[in-house]
Amino acid sequence: MLIDTRPKVTVHVVQTGEDFPCASDESLLQGMLRLGRKGIPVGCVNGGCGVCKVHIIEGQYRSLGPVSRAHVTAEEESAGFTLACRVAPVTAVRLEVTGKFEKPFRNGIACTANT
Ligand code: FES
Repeated sequence: MLIDTRPKVTVHVVQTGEDFPCASDESLLQGMLRLGRKGIPVGCVNGGCGVCKVHIIEGQYRSLGPVSRAHVTAEEESAGFTLACRVAPVTAVRLEVTGKFEKPFRNGIACTANT
């Protein structure tokens, strides 16, 4: 059995109150999926569908690739909005889900785009 020894930071999802550890070389979404956790909606996992759109409230993160301008405008990006499948955490991060499935999270219900 392989042990994941990568250093991790904590990612907090405001709507669900969920915390999960995420390595700095994986996306916020990959970190959540690796642990089988929920909180951020999951779609294409490739920066194209926009369902994983989040607003980073606190913490630093870095880009892993381009985000679709159809889902995150340049203005939004500079204000901390991004796609969770396209950024990795640098420090502990607090985020809120703002994508298409934002509303169900307001009621504490986690869901994914493909269920
Ligand atoms: S899951 Fe589709 S853009 Fe992130």
